[in-house]
Amino acid sequence: MYKVKLSDQIYFLGFNDRRTALFENFWPLPKGVTYNAYLIVDEKVCLIDTVERKFTDDFFDQLDNILGDRPIDYVVVNHVEPDHSGALSALRMKYPNITIIGNKKTFPMIENFYGITEACITVNDGDELDLGQHKLNFYTIPMVHWPESMVTYDRTEKILFSNDAFGSFGTLDGGVFDDEVNLAYYEEEAMRYFTNIVGKYCPHTARALVKLEGLEIGMIAPSHGLIWRSNLAYILDKYKQWSSYTTEKGVVIIVGSMYGNTEKMADAIGRQLAVRGIKNVRTFDASKTHVSHIISDIFKYKGVIIGSCAYNNEMFPSVENVVREILHKGIKDHVLGVFGSYSWNGGGVKNLEKFSEEIKWEIVNPSVEEKGALKKDKYEESKQLADAMANRLEELFT
Ligand code: FEO
Repeated sequence: MYKVKLSDQIYFLGFNDRRTALFENFWPLPKGVTYNAYLIVDEKVCLIDTVERKFTDDFFDQLDNILGDRPIDYVVVNHVEPDHSGALSALRMKYPNITIIGNKKTFPMIENFYGITEACITVNDGDELDLGQHKLNFYTIPMVHWPESMVTYDRTEKILFSNDAFGSFGTLDGGVFDDEVNLAYYEEEAMRYFTNIVGKYCPHTARALVKLEGLEIGMIAPSHGLIWRSNLAYILDKYKQWSSYTTEKGVVIIVGSMYGNTEKMADAIGRQLAVRGIKNVRTFDASKTHVSHIISDIFKYKGVIIGSCAYNNEMFPSVENVVREILHKGIKDHVLGVFGSYSWNGGGVKNLEKFSEEIKWEIVNPSVEEKGALKKDKYEESKQLADAMANRLEELFT
């Protein structure tokens, strides 16, 4: 087996998962995902995180391949979510004298998940672990992604082992480091990972970025996806942008339509936006596209226009799903328009208006609602909605 090293004494132990369809049994993985652990072989041997349980055998083969009979002294648990701690119990059996490093929020979770309570060392922010040449410092980054999440900083090599932070969906198809791949291929999955997995915790992420600002970082080694060593500014800038809801000029149109009438309104709006010079218009059929892709584009573009037909006096279920996810994530700072249609009673637009009040985004235009097929007056009103959105975006981006 090939070995990938970050430096003379630090090994990458990453595993491609192309078989799991849904991350956390919910988020689609069209390009797969990786689980990365890292091994520092110094006077003391220290593992940074483990891997998802089903990769335990492969993980142990790699450890044997590198270490032979040499035991591991420490395992740092940066994050207890099982995609990183899944091999912990088996690791403890393989290396009975191993000591687990975590913070005060780590160990109750480890006990709950694995029943492990022995040989645990609790660290506080900035505490140091001396491995010989390598000195490790620990910094908590609460809610990026769980309350106990932390990063490990190798002060000697200037490497930040960041766990979920700066991670990405997508397997590593040969290239492991950012300078070995075409970054454009990974950007979409990095953004979908951040916006959907960590996106509820943007303020926490912003605070974590400030907290880590004082560290001299030469390499970022996350527990999913690429290792960053040549384009650190690229991923740091993206995280600053995403976590501060900094958006581009563009509009996401989300539509739920049963018979195509609401969709015709969406197309009229999209066309008028283009006529008005909005080049980034992304229209999603909420029934067809997984909400994770829609959320990702909402983080990207300032304008959001949502259309729903009525469904049993309610919003269309697939649109309701998107709206619920927007509320759940508490996404901030967008401009909004709503529209829809109905056959025999309303419900779509009425409930979108309730959503508008709840999310507290800026409303650009009165809602537009048609009865049955799209007719001339509502066609004109749909265009007016697009005009109002285009006008507002012009103001905001000039
Ligand atoms: Fe990759 Fe929050 O676990």
